[in-house]
Amino acid sequence: MTDFDRFKERIFQTFGLDLNSYKENQLKRRLDNLLSRKQYSDYQAFLQHLTGNKNAWHEFLDYLTINVSEFFRDVKMFQTLETKILPDLLQKKGNLKIWSAACSNGCEPYTIAIIMEEIAKGGNRYQIDATDIDNTILQAAANGSYGADSVRNVSPNRLAKYFTIEQGKYLVTNGIKARVTFKQHNLLADQYPRGYDLIACRNVTIYFTREAQDKVNKSFAQSLNSGGYLFIGGSETIFNYAELGFEKVSPCFYRKK
Ligand SMILES: C[S@@+](CC[C@H](N)C(=O)[O-])C[C@H]1O[C@@H](n2cnc3c(N)ncnc32)[C@H](O)[C@@H]1O
Repeated sequence: MTDFDRFKERIFQTFGLDLNSYKENQLKRRLDNLLSRKQYSDYQAFLQHLTGNKNAWHEFLDYLTINVSEFFRDVKMFQTLETKILPDLLQKKGNLKIWSAACSNGCEPYTIAIIMEEIAKGGNRYQIDATDIDNTILQAAANGSYGADSVRNVSPNRLAKYFTIEQGKYLVTNGIKARVTFKQHNLLADQYPRGYDLIACRNVTIYFTREAQDKVNKSFAQSLNSGGYLFIGGSETIFNYAELGFEKVSPCFYRKK
C-alpha cells in the first residue's frame, strides 16, 4: 500500500469521503501541489493538519473540485432552462421540486430561484433544495453575499430587483433566499432524495471516475420524476444516457422517460 493509498483510506475513515471515486491523476496532482505550497513534509503531516481543523478541511475540499461558481454560469444553458425546460415543466405541473446538487456558494440555486420568480405564474409553486458536501461553503451560500465577479452575468434589471448592494457586496434579497433550503449531502455516500422535477448537478462529476459518474447519474435517474430533467455542466456529457433511462434534449439537458 502506498502512502497515497493510506492517506485515502484515512480520509474515508475520518470524513466518510471516498477519494477513490475522484480521478486519480487530477486528485494527486492537486493534492501534491497543495502539500508543497503549504510545505507539508508528507501525506501523514497533512492528514494531522486536516483532522480537527475545519478551515483546512474546507480548503482541501475546495482544492478537490474548485469551489468556483457564479450566477448564470453558462448564460446560454440558463437561457434554455428559462425558455424551454422550466416552461415545459410548469405547463405539466403546478408545483415543482428542484434540486441543485453540489451547489457550492449558492449562485446556482439562487439563479434558478430568480428565473422561477419570473416565469412561475400565480398558481405555480416551487421548492429548491441545494446541497453540497462542504458545510463551510453552505454557510456562505446561506448568507448570500457575493462579489462583483459572481454577478457579472446578471442583467441590470435583475441586479436591481433581486440584490441589494452593501459595501461593494451584492446581497441576495430575502425573498430569493427564502426559496432555497441548504443542506449537506455527499453525492458519493449519502442516500439520494426523490421526487424531483429538475436536478442541476454541474461541474462536479467531471472530477469523478467514470464508475462514480455512472453511480451518481443512476441515482439521479431514480431521484427524478418521470418527465423530469437533469441539467449538467457545459463540459460534461452522459454517454450512456439511454441505458440510464434518459433521452438527450440538448447539450446539457437530459429528460427522464
Ligand atoms: C465547481 S463547484 C460547482 C458549483 C456549481 N454547481 C456550478 O456549476 O457553478 C463543485 C462543488 O462540488 C462539491 N463537491 C465535491 N465533491 C462532492 C461530493 N462528493 N458530494 C457533493 N458535493 C461535492 C464541492 O464542494 C464544490 O462546491
